[in-house]
Amino acid sequence: MKQNQPIGIFDSGVGGLTVARVIKQLMPNESLIYFGDSKHLPYGDKSKEVIVEYVTQITNFLLSKDCKAIVVACNTATANALKEVKALAKTQKIPVFDVISPVAEKVAYNFSQNIGVIATKSTIASHIYKKSIQRLNKHIIVEELATPLLVPIIEDGFTHHPISEITLKTYLSKKKLKNIDSLILGCTHYPLIFSEVNNYYQNKIRIFDSPLIVANHVKQEIERMKLLTENTTPTYEFFVSDLTPTFKKLAKKFFGAHINLEMKMLS
Ligand code: DGL
Repeated sequence: MKQNQPIGIFDSGVGGLTVARVIKQLMPNESLIYFGDSKHLPYGDKSKEVIVEYVTQITNFLLSKDCKAIVVACNTATANALKEVKALAKTQKIPVFDVISPVAEKVAYNFSQNIGVIATKSTIASHIYKKSIQRLNKHIIVEELATPLLVPIIEDGFTHHPISEITLKTYLSKKKLKNIDSLILGCTHYPLIFSEVNNYYQNKIRIFDSPLIVANHVKQEIERMKLLTENTTPTYEFFVSDLTPTFKKLAKKFFGAHINLEMKMLS
């Protein structure tokens, strides 16, 4: 029965685990299959063609595992290859969710006038946040800033550290972001620096909790489509395309609990 099949979630690496973690909290009975493309990360400075190639392989893998829905838990993959994921999933009538449209919908109708977005170079270059928000509300000003140093800083463990502090200060003090009243953390790694960003702004602006917004949206849609599982004993499988000790440690940090990672090479 389709309802009892797992939800497939993927990212360029560990970042999407911040989304998987909240999906698990909100839908504790759902089985999950996660794929982190650790061999090819970061996606943030790769070309669209290459990202589409990697994402196509991952989608085919998740479809081969009979997933009932796919969550693209990577902003960069969403910005560059969502159309391709949807086309593949459509052949099996599988819904696809992404990490950008639910956030754009939320902010477009939420009192904000001047929104900042920080994300990888590739996500910012696509202007996907600006386009998605202004399509819904053309009066909102969207200021986008690429913050490429944040992913390596987070992955190397320099959070809550003078290095993350000075880097955030350098980025967030840019003129572009001077008048923002809200901020979107447009990369699935950034929830790990949520509190540091909040400290920088001293609670004066609203920072959207993207994983929560996305997980709530997925839950609502899964319910609406009558795809909620009847299982009471969910299974969890976590695959990565390259498995290193550093990656194991990072996975725990991002997911909030120890997980068993399996190496799976896609070709
Ligand atoms: N997790 C990815 C995202 O949300 C960024 C990491 C990468 O550059 O691969 O965009």
